[in-house]
Amino acid sequence: MKVLATRRYPGPALDELSDLEIATLASLDGPRADVEGLVVANERPPLELLPSLRAIANFGVGYDRIDIAACVERGVLVTNTPGVLDAATADLAFALILAARRRVVEGDRLVRAGGWTGSWADSGFAEELTGSTLGIVGLGRIGSAVARRAQGFELRVLYTQRHRVETGLAEYRELDVLLAESDVVTLHVPLTPETDELMDARRLGLLRDGACFVNTARGEIVDERALVAELVSGRLRAGLDVFANEPEVPAELLELPNVVLTPHLGSATRQAREAMTRLVVDNLLAVERGEPPLTPVVP
Ligand code: 8YV
Repeated sequence: MKVLATRRYPGPALDELSDLEIATLASLDGPRADVEGLVVANERPPLELLPSLRAIANFGVGYDRIDIAACVERGVLVTNTPGVLDAATADLAFALILAARRRVVEGDRLVRAGGWTGSWADSGFAEELTGSTLGIVGLGRIGSAVARRAQGFELRVLYTQRHRVETGLAEYRELDVLLAESDVVTLHVPLTPETDELMDARRLGLLRDGACFVNTARGEIVDERALVAELVSGRLRAGLDVFANEPEVPAELLELPNVVLTPHLGSATRQAREAMTRLVVDNLLAVERGEPPLTPVVP
């Protein structure tokens, strides 16, 4: 099976594909009838150029750029990489929570700028994380991994999602109630038509003064302009790993002390990324053998 991958994905697993071509989607200048498998990462597959396509293996758990209905109609299987990136993403969410809450990056900047002349301003204290309330929007695999980490910080953990679950990890709240009760809110839902701008201006306005807002999910889940306005006003703090028009970051955020910015690093550990490639390849090898893929998006 001829497989086209949009880059040399990390780790050795890609070499197990016998007929592999590495090419960016932008470099496809016409139809490619030979391609049966496609590996993409957060990119829109050009179905119109790939008439023989049998499977799309997405390097990532979120598959919001893929038109699943069109794939189902054409009989194209779609797979993703759930599970193997939960720890990496939950760790990053916690890194952003701690960094934003404890003003770690502000402190780093101060030291580098030679501004550390004595003890930090007596008026500039951070808020303690231990003992505060964490609101998790989406208690799936990654949200649950965040909730487990929260136990160590003795956090009171709230969660919201469409379906209530029996869990000892967190207490259920309606979204609006969770936003108003939490000191820190972290997003762990996929981007779907229902979650597109779920965090609109009204909901952002429900967050407590001084609350910390963390997004390692998708930028489009938040009304970015409304979030920027809240951050510019200084009312909230934030740790943001994802943005609505990546790799663009709203210019207003670049100089703000109350926001920590990272370039979509959620799954960017060697362990997670190599395991993602492994799963991508195992899915494609299964399809090649005529077996069901391991982690299909549509069962
Ligand atoms: C990206 C991600 O796919 O898993 C996801 O949903 O957003 C990431 O893992 C990865 O960064 C490659 O772009």
